[in-house]
Amino acid sequence: TRKIIFDTDPGVDDAAALLLAHRHPALDLIGVTTIFGNADIDDVTRNALWLREVFGFDAPVARGAALSLSGDAGPYPEFIHGVDGLGGLAPASVSEEPDPRPAHVLISDLARKAGGDVTIVAVGRLTNLALALMHDEKLPNYIRDVIIMGGAFGGGNGNVTPAAEANIIGDPVAADIVFGANWTVHAVGLDVTRQVMMTEEMFAGVKSGDTAAKLVRDASKLYSRYHDRFGIDGFYVHDSSAVACAISPELFTFREGPVRVVREGIARGQTILRDVDTFYPPGAWDNRPSHKVAFEVDAKGVLNLLESALQQ
Ligand code: BDR
Ligand code: CA
Repeated sequence: TRKIIFDTDPGVDDAAALLLAHRHPALDLIGVTTIFGNADIDDVTRNALWLREVFGFDAPVARGAALSLSGDAGPYPEFIHGVDGLGGLAPASVSEEPDPRPAHVLISDLARKAGGDVTIVAVGRLTNLALALMHDEKLPNYIRDVIIMGGAFGGGNGNVTPAAEANIIGDPVAADIVFGANWTVHAVGLDVTRQVMMTEEMFAGVKSGDTAAKLVRDASKLYSRYHDRFGIDGFYVHDSSAVACAISPELFTFREGPVRVVREGIARGQTILRDVDTFYPPGAWDNRPSHKVAFEVDAKGVLNLLESALQQ
């Protein structure tokens, strides 16, 4: 099995992705870290603790950053994920407390303990990962792989601005640091996640006694309605696509090269891959590690994985 640290801002599609990570036999969920994004850090941390209770996993949940490295957060997308981040279903509070360590310390501790065989799946802003790199400069030696849901690499296909995707524009400085570190990032961005569309019919096979899958189904109602305004029948499977990449990377086709993130200006949050095979004069992409950016996906294959987790 593949040991996973799941960094998340639950988040309706985050909740589905967490269920997939917990239930798929190829993955061993060893830690969950929270990050502001779909709601503020208090709400997403409460949500993660509640999901742990309902889903029944025992990995530690650690609270992450409340603000980006530039010191901002919000506004939160209540019209997509609800005021509570989970489509209005979350309880006001939970009895469990998060791990006493901040998220970036837990990431480093778990990675070192596992001796190099850990995959980080990050489906929110990349602030915790950037803080973990600053806290522990040898961290990349202990990480097998980093898989992120984030970015819009095709150009003009962002979801917050034409240039930028939410998880990247929420902390572009952190994202640029993460793409500058000496590890391999598999980026699963809007270029592929918008090809993975799920409909509410996919919940038809959820068993009546399965409170975990029912939570994901019910939380998805508001999320699904948000997509109506684009005239889309169904909704995008963003975060579960990143988990699917940890289970079956062969479902994706990648292009390789160094990546930069635009930190300021009208294109703030844009992710730009410099293809390894193309020649350019010296520039800002030099001396940066190569990453793998997904441009094609077997959408049916990803949906099958999610569907079997929901119907288990
Ligand atoms: C990303 O933004 C969040 O709203 C989703 O959970 C997903 O991680 C999509 O741009
Ligand atoms: Ca997310």
